[in-house]
Amino acid sequence: MNSLSTVHFYDRSVEIDDHGDEILTGLLEKPRTLSPKFFYDEKGSELFTEITRQPEYYLTRVETALLRKHVDEISELIGEDFILVEYGSGSSEKIRILLDSLKPAIYAPLDISGEYLAQAAQALGREFPWLEVHATCVDFTGEFELPFTSTKRRVSFFPGSSIGNFDRSEAQSFLGRIRNLVGDAGGLLLGVDMKKDPRILNEAYNDRQGVTAAFNLNILVHLNREYGADFNVESFRHEARYNEEEGCIQMFLKSEQDQRVNLMGTCLEFTQGEKIHTENSHKYTVAEVEEMANEAGFSKIRTWQDDQGLFGLFYLSN
Ligand SMILES: C[S@@+](CC[C@H](N)C(=O)[O-])C[C@H]1O[C@@H](n2cnc3c(N)ncnc32)[C@H](O)[C@@H]1O
Repeated sequence: MNSLSTVHFYDRSVEIDDHGDEILTGLLEKPRTLSPKFFYDEKGSELFTEITRQPEYYLTRVETALLRKHVDEISELIGEDFILVEYGSGSSEKIRILLDSLKPAIYAPLDISGEYLAQAAQALGREFPWLEVHATCVDFTGEFELPFTSTKRRVSFFPGSSIGNFDRSEAQSFLGRIRNLVGDAGGLLLGVDMKKDPRILNEAYNDRQGVTAAFNLNILVHLNREYGADFNVESFRHEARYNEEEGCIQMFLKSEQDQRVNLMGTCLEFTQGEKIHTENSHKYTVAEVEEMANEAGFSKIRTWQDDQGLFGLFYLSN
């Protein structure tokens, strides 16, 4: 553990071998898949932050406006003297909106992107000198415990509609795990992207600047660097489109030619047009979120939405 004034950093990243097996298994499946968690090396985190600034990417703009508008009510619902655990904190931009009102005893951001997390935590510590930060680099889809001890009540923050990366049943069990982490006295502030006109969704994931395309392709750069793969990144193309039946945006990398890729001693043969499925981003209705929250063990739900119903903020508790 490294300690920098009030900022502590814990590295609980899994061994590269564990993720290597997961990557290879996914790429050998048909259709080939990669978990979206592999987007997030340092460059991937920077590109995601860039995506949030694109005019088509309404998600961050609308969620941020909801947090600003309802910060007092959120603060009242959450109460005082608690640890705030953020899942997939990235740049920790959104929590800045809430900190002065919430005044948590400890802020505990969790993220898989270690270097980016460490920098974000230090920047936050400088900006909020009164705040005790315990940042943990961890894959939150695996089993883990908070690496510090405190008897204070826990409240979680899971913004950015990252819940949408799980399929419906996984999302519900993930909410159940957060419910266990926060216990009876805690709660979860959750940001969810809503079902809407597919044109708005398709534009959001195909921004004109090509930042989402660069973000998607960076997963191959990450695999080349960290896992010794030899993907020819230029010969894959970004694709994202809304699948109405599944209620989700699906992102792919499409091979533009027949080609071979070597990865950890295995040769993968791609045919022209073959795709790697890199992300699902499920969209929900308010009723679907409520049902999922109830099934995960939360009995009270407070909902805030923008006028157009693009995005939803939910405070789940008991
Ligand atoms: C869509 S971004 C959201 C970032 C930020 N919370 C926001 O709302 O703008 C997802 C974040 O979750 C992190 N992440 C993705 N999968 C993860 C995993 N399995 N474990 C830990 N962090 C993960 C990424 O590194 C990234 O910072």
